[in-house]
Amino acid sequence: MKQQSTLYFATVVHCTDDPWQSGDAAVQVLKNGYLKVTDGLVESVGLEADLTADELQQCSQVDYRRYIITPGFIDGHLHYPQTQVIASYGTELLEWLEKFTFPAEAKFEDETHARTSAEFFIKELLRNGTTTGFVFATIHSQSVEAIFTAASNVNMRLGSGKVMMDRNCPENLRDTPESGFEESQYLIDKWHGRDRLMYVVTPRFAPTSSEVQLEFSSRLLHENEGVYLQSHVAESKAEVAWVAELFQWSRSYLDVYDHYGLLGERSIYGHCIYLDDNDLKRMSDSGTVAAFCPTSNLFLGSGLFDLAGIREKGVRTVMATDVGGGTSFSMLRTADEAYKVTRMAGGTATPLQLFFELTLGGARSLAIDDKVGNFKSGKEADFVVLDLHVTEVLSQRVELANSIADMMFALIILGDDRCTVATHLMGREVYSRN
Ligand code: GUN
Ligand code: ZN
Repeated sequence: MKQQSTLYFATVVHCTDDPWQSGDAAVQVLKNGYLKVTDGLVESVGLEADLTADELQQCSQVDYRRYIITPGFIDGHLHYPQTQVIASYGTELLEWLEKFTFPAEAKFEDETHARTSAEFFIKELLRNGTTTGFVFATIHSQSVEAIFTAASNVNMRLGSGKVMMDRNCPENLRDTPESGFEESQYLIDKWHGRDRLMYVVTPRFAPTSSEVQLEFSSRLLHENEGVYLQSHVAESKAEVAWVAELFQWSRSYLDVYDHYGLLGERSIYGHCIYLDDNDLKRMSDSGTVAAFCPTSNLFLGSGLFDLAGIREKGVRTVMATDVGGGTSFSMLRTADEAYKVTRMAGGTATPLQLFFELTLGGARSLAIDDKVGNFKSGKEADFVVLDLHVTEVLSQRVELANSIADMMFALIILGDDRCTVATHLMGREVYSRN
């Protein structure tokens, strides 16, 4: 059968390597470039001037020449049932969970609420140029069915799983080690590997899981090839003190998860603010991923994540909004705050290192870089089309930019969802601002 190819003309920007290691040369910029997509996969990128007359004649053509095209953004940790609690005033983590979050999550017992929330959430991600998310659901299986269904309807690459909590939370949000295990296994069998979906075993955090539930989590992770695990660790001082009380045998908060075999290359932990050198070594040695959630850490007053310092210790990182503790769905807003927090923590990140974290870096940490993250031939064609002239200030600043790094920095610091012209999943337009 004849394959259908499309040429998208734009300035194409993507990472071919890691700027933390190879500097700005790790980013390829093709001005007057093209992205060629065949049957949902990247066929090639290059300069428009190098295209042959045959290619031009045989392909559909889309003119994005006024815009830039980058790989779709990757959000490594966020909660779809918390969309409605975003911007809830005045509390730190543990009170915020009790007062706002648990009541909002209880509503997901209702299938219709779960479905409409999931559909809205996926639209919001796409409107922000986010094409992959590792997403918390609630303890209700139907919340997982809803988010996987909504993602599958647009053929989105997405990870999610049933939250497990069997203590220290409201009665109506409690499962048991057995029911959490069985329902998770059912969902794994039904959804993991279907379309572009990935199952993520999800004990919420150590305080809300008994030791038996943590053991069951470990079984789910190790008995099902390719599934992930996500949770939270060392986010606030009060939380760290609570874990020390609950697990008196543990050396540290991270040690609780380590004890149950819950560290590893497919384990992603939100926050990771209060880790000591021993913990960081365990993270690094085990390949465990730290999700950096700057807007959430600032909003809840949790603390400053030291991106540069943690990377120097060899820990894998991914950038994340952590909606609804986080205050924006936009990975541009998130990278902006990440830069400022990194400065406050005493380090720095270059513009292209920040861009890497949103794209290829996130994909590598999440072990999906064979599929997404840049425009290497054969990858899934998830990309975002960005307009750098949506506000006067951004437009002026971009015109004055003296390099691509400088231009990308202006985009990160001044850009937001208004910049998204279109979002494509496997070459199919799934969001257009028009
Ligand atoms: N720790 C346990 N649950 C949560 C959550 O929903 N959000 C945040 N930010 N931290 C948590
Ligand atoms: Zn979270």
